[in-house]
Parts: sequence; structure tokens; C-alpha cells
Amino acid sequence: MIGLVDLKRQYACYRQELERAIAEVMAEVSFVGGEKLAAFETALRAYVSGECRVAADKNAQAMRSDFHAIGCSSGTDALFLVLMALGIGDGDEVIVPAYTFISTGEVVALLGARPVFIDVNPDTYVIDAEAVSEAVTAKTKAVIPVGLFGVLPDMDAITAVAAKHNIAVIEDAAQSFGAKYNERRSCHLAMFGCTSFFPAKPLGGAGDGGAIFTTSTTYAHKLRCLLNHGQSQRYYHDAVGINGRLDTIQAAILNVKLRHLDNELKARRLNAARYDEQLDKNRYTRQLIPSNVISAYAQYSLCCESKRMRTVLIERLKKHDIGYGIYYPIPLHLQRAFKSYGYKKGSLPVSEQLAETMLSIPVHPFLTAAEQDRVIAVVNDRA
Ligand SMILES: Cc1ncc(COP(=O)(O)O)c(C=O)c1O
Repeated sequence: MIGLVDLKRQYACYRQELERAIAEVMAEVSFVGGEKLAAFETALRAYVSGECRVAADKNAQAMRSDFHAIGCSSGTDALFLVLMALGIGDGDEVIVPAYTFISTGEVVALLGARPVFIDVNPDTYVIDAEAVSEAVTAKTKAVIPVGLFGVLPDMDAITAVAAKHNIAVIEDAAQSFGAKYNERRSCHLAMFGCTSFFPAKPLGGAGDGGAIFTTSTTYAHKLRCLLNHGQSQRYYHDAVGINGRLDTIQAAILNVKLRHLDNELKARRLNAARYDEQLDKNRYTRQLIPSNVISAYAQYSLCCESKRMRTVLIERLKKHDIGYGIYYPIPLHLQRAFKSYGYKKGSLPVSEQLAETMLSIPVHPFLTAAEQDRVIAVVNDRA
């Protein structure tokens, strides 16, 4: 079997380092908060801000104090907490792409605000500033651009539209951690960046986890308070919050994996380049990656000519024991959960078309050349 991801191989590679890190947490019996979480947040901040490759403690002082990395319980909670901190709720609107994972819209609805779904660009599959601009109303409070499959939207253009209308920009970087836009890392492209450490993500833990990044010290304090039951000090609750903390054991595991992330991203990009070169261009369209963007290749996705052709390809992949993913079979505006907002089929045609034709194939960093040759032969129907 060639897996869409292969976390067993990853574990085999980093086993000693991981087991040492886990054993240290167990020996310290410090499972919530503590030094290991602080060290991971320091390393995260350094990585994303690009101040140094992987931070050692002494680097912490050298870092700009107005950029904050805050570990939390998941990518979903990261988005939820930022919306909470912004006070978004009943009567507010938040602009969200229709072609993304459910969380991006779910968090808006959970707070009683309305997700306003917009279509994505037919070439890049991410939202454009023009579409954001058209969707803004007097009720709009924020926009959540998503770095789908690891490719970043034009964040400067979106930020300019947002500034004009005085709305917040929250980057959903669950799939784009490690990607770059104009030499800047994903999560450092707006006032708020949110990512996920779900195991299959470019930086994945051994369970759920996430992080919030912000350039605002005021919001950083608020977010730390909200993710810890609104506590300013123990058992003194200034706001209604949640338990949204990142477990110390996850932080220790992620800190090990962060050290290997750039090598993994390099391997993903090499695999993607081979696919770009060798997959049949007459049969499949690929996601357009703008020249100022370096993708994290969370997924390598093919757009088939039709839904029927995708089904045929799936049958071939199954026959040859090759993993695949369909991200996502139903765009958000047509999900039953969001029925009450009244969107009709045909209203966001690009997202609807992509939902019928997209398919992701293995691009993970532990794919061997022989395995990739097999995937290429099967996808090109030459196996
Ligand atoms: C675009 C996007 N946003 C948010 C999330 C939510 O992350 P988590 O699963 O850590 O809650 C995901 C996870 O798949 C995602 O792909």
C-alpha cells in the first residue's frame, strides 16, 4: 500500500528523539503548560517570523516582542478563539471560502455570526481580493483566507481590502504551515494566523493541536486568557473562555518534528516537481501556484476532466493499492449543517466544480522514488 501519508515511516526516522522527548515529559510529570510548552512556542515564533531557523532559549530575547505564538488545542479552536477575542457574534458576518474544510465556516456559525461563503479562483483554488471586496457589507467583521493544499492567497491584496473596510484578517494556515508568500512565512501574513497540528498536517503531532499567531500584544494576552477558561490568574475568571490549551506532551513531540520540518518540506517540493513534470498535462489540471508563493504541499491535487473521470482514476488507484483523498466532496455552502443560510446549488460554481473533480495523491516526504514512479504510471494509465 502506498499511503496518502506515512506516519509510520516518519516515526521510524525520529523515534529516538521523540521517545526521549516523551520520556522527559513523563519524568517531569508536568503535563499542562510548563517549560516544554514555552520552549515550543519560542521555537514556533522563531520559525514563523524567520528570525532564526530553530530557536534556542537565548534567541528568545532577540526576537521582536510584538509577534506571538500561542499553542492551543486544535486548528479549529485557534480560529474559534480568535473570533471570540474579536468579539464576533450575533448579527456579524465573516467572509469564508466555500472550498475548504468545515472548521473555517463552523467556528463562525458556532458564535452565532453568519459565514458569508465566497467562491475561489478557478486556477489557484483560493480566494481573491476582488471576491472579498464584493462580499463586504456593513455587517462584515472579518475575512478568513485559507492556504488551501499549502498555497497562499494574495494576502497583501486581501489585507488592503480588509484595511479599507476596517475588517480583521485571520489567516487559516491549517494546510499552509511552512509555506511562503513574498519570502514571509504563512501565519505571519496578517494580524492573526491560525494553524493545525493534526497528525497528517505538514507539522503534525500525535493527536490534536494547533497554534495562534498574532502581531498584537493586546490580543495575545486576551487569547491566552480565553484558551484557559478566561483566567487572568488561577480561579479568577475575567471572561467566559474555553479549555483550549495545547498538551505539554504534544508540544514536546511537535518541537522535535519542527526541527525536521524544512527537510520534509524540501522532500514534498521535490516530489511535487516530479509530478509536475511527469503527470499527463492533457488529462489533469494542477493548482496554479503564483510566482511569489512557495507551497507547503500539504496535498498534491489533480483536477480531473469530469466527475466520471475522477471515479475512473479512483478505481485505478484502488486496484493498485494507492492512497488518495477527496478534499472536499461538498463545498461548505451546500453542506447540510449550513442549510439555514439558504445557499443554492449553482451559486458558487468554481467550488462546486472542484468538489466534483479534485483528487489528492501521495506527496508525503517519505515517498520513495520507486513508489512515486508507480503512482505516476497508474495516474497516467500506463501501469
Ligand atoms: C483549512 C483547515 N482549517 C481548519 C482545520 C481544523 O484543524 P483541526 O483539525 O486541528 O481542528 C483544518 C483541518 O483539517 C483545515 O484543513
